[in-house]
Amino acid sequence: MKAIESINYSVFFENSLQELRYFLEKNKYSKVFVLVDSNTEIHCLPLLQDALGDIEFDLIEVTPGEENKNIDFCIGIWKMLLDFGADRSSILINLGGGVITDMGGFAASTFKRGIDFVQVPTTLLSQVDASIGGKTGIDMDNVKNIIGTFTQPKAVFIHNAFLSSLDQRELRSGYAEVIKHGLIYDANLFEKLKSIKPAEINPELIYRSVEIKNEVVKADPFEKGLRKILNFGHTIGHAVESYSLQHDKKPLLHGEAIAIGFICEAYLSAKKNKLTKEELREIVDTIKSVYPAYKVAKSSYKNLIELMKNDKKNISDKISFSLLSKIGACDYDIYCTEEEILGSLEFYSNFKN
Ligand SMILES: NC(=O)c1ccc[n+]([C@@H]2O[C@H](COP(=O)([O-])OP(=O)(O)OC[C@H]3O[C@@H](n4cnc5c(N)ncnc54)[C@H](O)[C@@H]3O)[C@@H](O)[C@H]2O)c1
Repeated sequence: MKAIESINYSVFFENSLQELRYFLEKNKYSKVFVLVDSNTEIHCLPLLQDALGDIEFDLIEVTPGEENKNIDFCIGIWKMLLDFGADRSSILINLGGGVITDMGGFAASTFKRGIDFVQVPTTLLSQVDASIGGKTGIDMDNVKNIIGTFTQPKAVFIHNAFLSSLDQRELRSGYAEVIKHGLIYDANLFEKLKSIKPAEINPELIYRSVEIKNEVVKADPFEKGLRKILNFGHTIGHAVESYSLQHDKKPLLHGEAIAIGFICEAYLSAKKNKLTKEELREIVDTIKSVYPAYKVAKSSYKNLIELMKNDKKNISDKISFSLLSKIGACDYDIYCTEEEILGSLEFYSNFKN
């Protein structure tokens, strides 16, 4: 598959990670570091090692999970880089899901005022979304991605083989961002997804998803306007995700929370924008056929609204949304009242399959 050209870098679609090897040979870095978590060390590092052959690297390992995408683990990464003698001509290879690509990107973009990094995404979610577009970051005080930078990687290497060790739940989580790309940008993609289960996702759909994200990001790298459409489902989804991380024994995964956000924000799209009732029904039916119902407790509403108020898109205290005008198109900077938001949570809770 042809590489996709992004802002000053390429997204390669790999069969064997040979492009990554060429990239490292060509750039002659002083030192190579690979960031993994304990899962990607087991499932993904062997493939990377094979591809790199005799290129030497130092390994940095962190504990997996969103709860570890924080400053403490970041300090750990910076310390390792320092201890192993990283300089400004070193490179960090982020081998993992969105937690690794976000946190590794952030650690690299700030270490010694910025060293090169590349993304080797190993989950569906990170392949179709997190590794593309240069948003790096960590969470703080249960607020998602509140600390971070816009820094583009030097390249992204997408290898389908990594997905074979992902469990069904993780695949389903990543699938949410593919659905989002269809909903906000490409009705044809959404139509195709209606008959495809997460486990049936194929390289063509991944490619199309990356194309969409890349087109939007290239048009507006710093999220001054159009890029905000990528946040569809995320205002409410991020709040539900943060709440779940704090309160649930088995917290929601990112895509599962975002899928709840899609239903709530599709409801708001029908109320505040031009989405029709039929389209709303179509979206809700599709999401509910993939994602199990989750109980958003009434007692959590106040907390959820507070979390939404911390969303980076807001101006002052007003909660801002990106809402669909139809399936395949999205507007941004639409403000909703607390009553309207609570109405959307009720809509989610009351909707029966
Ligand atoms: N920067 C962005 O633009 C952007 C966009 C969307 C999401 N995100 C972020 O991405 C994160 C979610 O990403 P994620 O869903 O990839 O989570 P993740 O990185 O936590 O990965 C999910 C789990 O899968 C494991 N794993 C990774 N690759 C594997 C493989 N090939 N085989 C087996 N196990 C594997 C991980 O160890 C982890 O336990 C969130 O923090 C979210 O905020 C960022």
